Amino acid sequence: MRAWQVHELGEPRDVLTLAEVPDPEPGPRQVLVRVRAAAANFPDVLMCRGGYQVRPPLPFTPGIELCGEVVAAGREVTGFAAGERVIGGSSLPSGAFAELAVMNSDSVFPAPEGLDDAEAAAFFITYQTGWFGLHRRARLAAGETLLVHAAAGGVGSGAVQLGRAAGARVIGVVGGERKAEAARALGADVVVDRLSQDFVEVVKEVTDGRGADVVYDPVGGETYTRSTKCIAFEGRILVIGFAGGEIPTAALNHVLIKNYSIVGLHWGLYQSKDPQAIRDCHAQLTKLVADGLIRPLIGERLGLAEVADGVQTLADGDTVGRIVFLP
Ligand SMILES: NC(=O)c1ccc[n+]([C@@H]2O[C@H](COP(=O)([O-])OP(=O)(O)OC[C@H]3O[C@@H](n4cnc5c(N)ncnc54)[C@H](OP(=O)(O)O)[C@@H]3O)[C@@H](O)[C@H]2O)c1
Repeated sequence: MRAWQVHELGEPRDVLTLAEVPDPEPGPRQVLVRVRAAAANFPDVLMCRGGYQVRPPLPFTPGIELCGEVVAAGREVTGFAAGERVIGGSSLPSGAFAELAVMNSDSVFPAPEGLDDAEAAAFFITYQTGWFGLHRRARLAAGETLLVHAAAGGVGSGAVQLGRAAGARVIGVVGGERKAEAARALGADVVVDRLSQDFVEVVKEVTDGRGADVVYDPVGGETYTRSTKCIAFEGRILVIGFAGGEIPTAALNHVLIKNYSIVGLHWGLYQSKDPQAIRDCHAQLTKLVADGLIRPLIGERLGLAEVADGVQTLADGDTVGRIVFLP
């Protein structure tokens, strides 16, 4: 089969190569799938660079999220039929930027009807992260104000839709007019272009000085630090990621004097700590799709040959919504 491989670490465009490799084989608790669509995630960028918490041995095939068709299952796996359309996470080193991929059986879920392959591929990690972040970790309530950074990005676009679905008022922060348009279309009530506006000022203005109850922060660095200037009394700042490249340091005296919480989220941990919660979440999210309340924003649909350039666009912060590869 054809698969993209990383043999040495570096920028995605420099280190990803497309090769003819042997078909992977599923382990006893794994499922082999033919990839119908694979969505790019920032962790793919970080893994190419060697800067992610998960460091697969070289060479590996990245692509952590997919929609596929079941080809075969390991001897301890039951409940999946050949040809079934599924979504979920891949098991590296046999990732989704390939014609075939391997999934751990507890990361395989039915693809929601009503989503095409590209949308279904982009429906797992970002929405699960948004759901666990907003509901389980930050306890977002209807009527609260939610501030979402990188609101037109992958996890950000999901958080905007989930925030709206939960009855929150959503303020989306984006870089540039193209992303601002996307954030408005996603349903953000207020959109701030960080290239020309100060989000702290806007948040204070539209909340009559109260601030945001929940901040969803996939960017980190100065974005986190500035968010502490517009967090509400008893607000919660969700630490989602550091796409800006800088891991900020928290000023705990400030946390104390303003009565807010800094809440971490590593969604992947729930796969081992509470797999039932992931299944419950999938059911909730599938219902939200059926009710027309959420739907992945696919910015670009590319071919398998375009993986290196597509992942580099994500690395450079230039994507709107999700980039999906259709082999
Ligand atoms: N905690 C978890 O469990 C979890 C799960 C999934 C993903 N994540 C993390 O969430 C973050 C976002 O992932 P994603 O796949 O959804 O990516 P993404 O948000 O689609 O892309 C990153 C966005 O961050 C903003 N950004 C600001 N400074 C940037 C810089 N220097 N370089 C690149 N982007 C920059 C850009 O949006 P603007 O221009 O609009 O600001 C860019 O579009 C990553 O750090 C990822 O590791 C965490």
